[in-house]
Amino acid sequence: MSKVTVVGAGKYGSTTVQRIAEWDIVDEVVMTDIVEGLPQGLALDMNQSRPVLGYRTIVTGTNDYADTAGSDVVVITAGLPRKPGMSRMDLLGVNAGIVKSVVQEIVKFSPDAVIIVVTNPLDQMTTLAADVSGFPRNRVLGQAGMLDSARFAHFISEAADHDVLDVTAVTLGSHGETMVPVPSLCKVGDTPLLEALGNDKVAELVDRTRKGGAEIVAYLKTGSAYYAPSAAAASMVKAIIENAGAEMPVCAWMEGQYDIDGVYLGVIARLGANGVEAVEEVELTDDEVAGLREAAVAVKEKVADLEDLDL
Ligand code: APR
Repeated sequence: MSKVTVVGAGKYGSTTVQRIAEWDIVDEVVMTDIVEGLPQGLALDMNQSRPVLGYRTIVTGTNDYADTAGSDVVVITAGLPRKPGMSRMDLLGVNAGIVKSVVQEIVKFSPDAVIIVVTNPLDQMTTLAADVSGFPRNRVLGQAGMLDSARFAHFISEAADHDVLDVTAVTLGSHGETMVPVPSLCKVGDTPLLEALGNDKVAELVDRTRKGGAEIVAYLKTGSAYYAPSAAAASMVKAIIENAGAEMPVCAWMEGQYDIDGVYLGVIARLGANGVEAVEEVELTDDEVAGLREAAVAVKEKVADLEDLDL
């Protein structure tokens, strides 16, 4: 009996639930929110799509954490999304309070769960969730790299006029400003990215990827992106549930890889039943490793801001 909980039934949370349910990879997905009726209504609606799409996973909508008990994986999407002009940092105070209270409830009812954090600002929220939970750090991870890599792949595919499924794109580091593109691992078909598109074009696409979330926020005016983000979060859940050694870029706890220690950072990790089974120290150029180390310093500085909050 496998069970996944998604906390937050907003755009990101509900779309993540929908994707996991439609893949039919778990018995139950529990969706919870503080708004009464919202998760229940969405769950009922989703469940009625089962005969049409042909899957069995049941979605339970609830406002009661008791219903989340015994979850294998918990995805935390609860929080406020960025508004136009709002930086991730602006979100820190309000979302830190939400994430702390959510994690306290999760730990009570699912002491063995793997926690995936998607609430922004991602690095701080993942660190906070790990601290509050007291879980081993391999069982708390964040979603960022899958999304940034997917955005980068989409932009490369368009610029190169090449099948998106034949593009390899990898970003590491942090989310947003300190994202570290990894051209040495990026390819258009079999051609190295820099060779295919040239330095200037790649720099332009890197910049667009860095600002990928803001570009969508500016269009939407209210709310932020959720289709690609939920695809990324759901694929991490799938990797953990399937426990088949899938590797992907995630925000994981560093313990000396690339000489980086004691910080959550976007790296390639092997996921499985224990969350992060291993951080893969893939071969990078000197510049890319330097970028990763810079990102680690920036994240450590940002995480220090958490100490100034009265939580
Ligand atoms: N417990 C449970 N749910 C909560 C709580 C809480 N303490 N506080 C807020 N929520 C719920 C809200 O009621 C809302 O339904 O979180 C949901 C957030 O949904 P949206 O406003 O639609 O935001 P969304 O686009 O889903 O983004 C969620 O993901 O990408 C990040 O920056 C984004 O931090 C934001 C999060």
